Amino acid sequence: MAVSVAAHVDGGRLWRRLMDLARFGATEKGGVHRLALSDEEIAARAELVRWGLAIGLEPATDPAANLFLRLRGREPDLPPLLVGSHIDSQPTGGKFDGAYGVIAALECAEAILGAGQRPRRSLEVVAWMNEEGSRFAPGMMGSAVFAGVRRMADIEPVRDRAGMSVRDALERVRAAEPDLPLRPLSFPAAGFLEAHIEQGVTLERTGMTIGVVTSIQGKRTFRVTVEGAESHAGTSRRAERRDALASAVDVVKALQAAIWDEADTVRFTIGQFTVSPNAPSVVPGRVEFSIDLRHDEATTVRALGDIIPEVCARARGPCEVSVRELLSDEPIAFPKTLRDRLAAAAGRLGFTHCELPSPAGHDSRYLSRHCPTAMLFIPCKDGISHNEAESISPADAEAGVRVLTEVAFELADADAVPGSTGGMTRL
Ligand code: GLV
Ligand code: MN
Ligand code: MN
Repeated sequence: MAVSVAAHVDGGRLWRRLMDLARFGATEKGGVHRLALSDEEIAARAELVRWGLAIGLEPATDPAANLFLRLRGREPDLPPLLVGSHIDSQPTGGKFDGAYGVIAALECAEAILGAGQRPRRSLEVVAWMNEEGSRFAPGMMGSAVFAGVRRMADIEPVRDRAGMSVRDALERVRAAEPDLPLRPLSFPAAGFLEAHIEQGVTLERTGMTIGVVTSIQGKRTFRVTVEGAESHAGTSRRAERRDALASAVDVVKALQAAIWDEADTVRFTIGQFTVSPNAPSVVPGRVEFSIDLRHDEATTVRALGDIIPEVCARARGPCEVSVRELLSDEPIAFPKTLRDRLAAAAGRLGFTHCELPSPAGHDSRYLSRHCPTAMLFIPCKDGISHNEAESISPADAEAGVRVLTEVAFELADADAVPGSTGGMTRL
């Protein structure tokens, strides 16, 4: 008879750890400011390592500062099953985006041990480096490098607003964790499971506890630079000005008009806007802004992204404008076999469940290129996320971990993970 490891999930312990982790970078409004590779994140990583060591997990890291806590399997030479998410946050993020998936994975490991089990393959709790991309853009850096989508040389020169490079920030993390063994990037994995809050309202509105994720929508991101000329606010006449902010406002309006869609399925966001020199009496000489464009159809995200340079050029007025694409990711779908495993486990455990797509991006996007990958969602209150007010219920948090634990144990203990090369047929 199959062993029920889910019965050993401890909802109280899970919730305590979620709250404890939220102390690292805690904000006054109950959220989290824990940017990738920051001191707050370094301290949170140390806490995770302490928790892992306390239950016999083996911590390690890799050159991209991905953090692994291994529950050694009975056959440790087999590729491990990875389970996790990320612990970096948006500047004013919530307690659960990413952190839920990492703490859920830790609880999953502890429940398996608590059930007196040790799976055939190792199970590794993982926290991927820089999922959010708000300090160093683009995000999902650790999972991209791990999955071979980007190279270290692509990410190392990226700088934050203070001028610090990813290379230097990685060195700081390494210096703070001298005892962590360093593993090679991209080691083979049997699979990856990620639990996450939904960040939308589908589960809440339909009264479902578990969402089995079918797909992640396509995304392109850009950095637009508008160059004008700094001049004196009191003396320069309008006809002579090359005001980068005035041109940037026209460019933004033109982009919003060109990308506007009646059906409201396109997601278009300008979330970062920097004016230089940002002084009250200087005509702005330079503006930089970000574009985040998403849609669930590859053709739409491609076609809309392609018109951006031309729209910017048309609206630039007397200034120069340049557009640099940072990221272009097609929509992806998760394998049906693994989705069915999650749905079956949710059903067995008595949780309502449904399939749904993910409009938000996740590390699972890149992991799915490396190994069979699946995701589950739990509800989050009013769909609020990337916001300090993010909230989930302890009961939903526990339900998600119970489903995760069942499937993680099943896959880690199986002869072969469905979809893995050399195992069962590829999906
Ligand atoms: C991830 O946080 C995203 O922006 O979708
Ligand atoms: Mn996330
Ligand atoms: Mn996020």
